[in-house]
Amino acid sequence: MCIPNLARISHSLIYILLLGILVSCNQEDDQRKVGSEGMENAEYNMDAIDQYTYARPGEAVVTHLDLDIKVNFANKKISGKATYQITNHAEVNKIFFDTKQIDIESVTIGEEGKETEFALVGYKDFMGRKLEIAIDPETEVVNIYYSTRPEAIALQWLSPQQTVEKGQPFLYTQSEPTYARSWIPTQDSPGIRFTYSARVEVPKELMVVMSASNPQEKSANGIYNFEMKQPIPGYLIALAVGDFRFKATGPRSGVYAEASVVDAAAQEFGELEEMMDAVEKLYGPYRWERYDLIVLPPSFPFGGMENPRLTFATPTIIAGDRSLVSVVAHELSHSWSGNLVTSATWNDFWINEGFTVYLERRIMEELYGASYTRMLRLIGYQDLESTIELMGETNADTHLKLQLDGRDPDEALTDIAYEKGALFLQVVEEAVGRERWDDYLKNYFDKFAFQSMSTEKFLDHMRETLIKGDAALAKQINIDAWVYGPGLPDNCPVVKSERFEVVDEAVVKWTSGENAETLGAGEWTTHEWLHFLRHLPNEISVERMTELDQSFKLSNSQNSEIIAAWFIHVIKNNYEVAYDELEEFLVKVGRRKFLAPLYKELAKTEANKKVGIAIYKKARLNYHQISTVTIDGILGWEDIRYLMHD
Ligand code: BES
Ligand code: ZN
Repeated sequence: MCIPNLARISHSLIYILLLGILVSCNQEDDQRKVGSEGMENAEYNMDAIDQYTYARPGEAVVTHLDLDIKVNFANKKISGKATYQITNHAEVNKIFFDTKQIDIESVTIGEEGKETEFALVGYKDFMGRKLEIAIDPETEVVNIYYSTRPEAIALQWLSPQQTVEKGQPFLYTQSEPTYARSWIPTQDSPGIRFTYSARVEVPKELMVVMSASNPQEKSANGIYNFEMKQPIPGYLIALAVGDFRFKATGPRSGVYAEASVVDAAAQEFGELEEMMDAVEKLYGPYRWERYDLIVLPPSFPFGGMENPRLTFATPTIIAGDRSLVSVVAHELSHSWSGNLVTSATWNDFWINEGFTVYLERRIMEELYGASYTRMLRLIGYQDLESTIELMGETNADTHLKLQLDGRDPDEALTDIAYEKGALFLQVVEEAVGRERWDDYLKNYFDKFAFQSMSTEKFLDHMRETLIKGDAALAKQINIDAWVYGPGLPDNCPVVKSERFEVVDEAVVKWTSGENAETLGAGEWTTHEWLHFLRHLPNEISVERMTELDQSFKLSNSQNSEIIAAWFIHVIKNNYEVAYDELEEFLVKVGRRKFLAPLYKELAKTEANKKVGIAIYKKARLNYHQISTVTIDGILGWEDIRYLMHD
């Protein structure tokens, strides 16, 4: 039973009224003009209220951040000053920021730095604490002196042992969705954009990069300066500190990675420029000048994170044969969908991810052809089908437009936004024709560049400029069923791959007892392997597991996707020969997408759960908190926590 939160509703109503007044009589002020490209275009999206921020952007909002921080590895603290330019639209006496796991030392206002009152109010797990600061109606500058706590969720502090080279420590941030506030006090909402500059001081053996203009070499004194001229939301601020180097992959792109990884990374991602050219040709100019990528240590909890100008990536996509580069195509695509036109709130997450998966597949089609891309589509479709099955066909979290109300956003941000979102856009493409749809998208990215986009704003725009009252077309697309309805609508495109049909035959052959050598697997690419492994029966005898393993060296595969899919069978069938390799993988890799299914599988039987807990005991310290929260849940943290410490 859901009891509406009256306090919140009345607050929202007042807010909406206030915004209405502001929009109608003060439109000029809402359009912040700072002179850089994005700022001229930036405008608040007043129709979407973000429930995950304490900020009230309609009253007083940040427009620029100047960060001056020092990174201290010994006590796991970032400390320094965040100076904000603000616009006090409503001439209020208070401005609100988000903080979490941060200590505030003092706050001053104005260029002259006049001490002002502040308070940290309340606490909610995934919201953190509200920072209220007393300002004057004419205040334009706010300086916040702060330091982070060692447990700040956005930060992962790695010891030298946890890096590849093992010589120096490493630090990286993960700000999406609501973690930026744990390393910078900020107005942490996807609907609030600001430019930033930063000065960062680190031990002089280390290098620093951010989601901004970046150095390509170490500085002599450990001091680095950064600038991000385009306005971005807080979740896109990022920092990495470590002993890494740079290698160019083209005139506007390159990779950062630890010394022994950088050549392999530059080789693996050698197509960055071609990918950029492909999207630019379709959807207009790349607006962030450079596109670089940093390969992080293996604990990084995601495949990739689209920090502007500098994608953060897991080393598990370096397979040696470029077969996992669709992750890079994905993160690059966010330079249009997500970073340029941004989900207004986390309920509109599909506006970031659904569009991005759609774009990712278009890049892959340009570079690798339609038949290859159909394999990627079908793998995505199968993931979606199992997510829907798991969540239940009528579950409201299977709608594209989410209603997260008061839940941890991390919980409901699922495959749905990605795969159902991309399928919906494919439906539109097929209904209006690719040419018209591409024109529409190009115009969309241009018109709404550096703005936030709610689901409703997008749908209105699409109705006005694409559907234009064509009732038959509207019916064919059936927007409501896709966006506000559960599961997969009737007009869902059929996703087929002729290359997978060949693999299906191999599955039948092998299951009916034929020898592994006869399957023609020598020709298979990574995706054919994945399809094969995903469609093997649940129960396989040890003899047949051994046969597969010996024929194809699966337990020693250097391809993270293949080995992770194989390990599912290893666990299901208690193929203990490969448990050492399983353990090695789980201790080293922190990517949640691999960890969660493997620990879930381990948790299914008593004996394997013991194995899982023993592995987790060795591995947990290597994982980012984003991953440990999930795995704690799978293994039942309350039951096992006493086992985790000696
Ligand atoms: N922006 C996401 C990562 C993310 C989503 C972080 C939600 C925090 C909250 C990123 O673009 C992404 O989707 N990464 C995927 C890879 C992609 C190819 C589907 C991942 O990490 O698995
Ligand atoms: Zn994404």
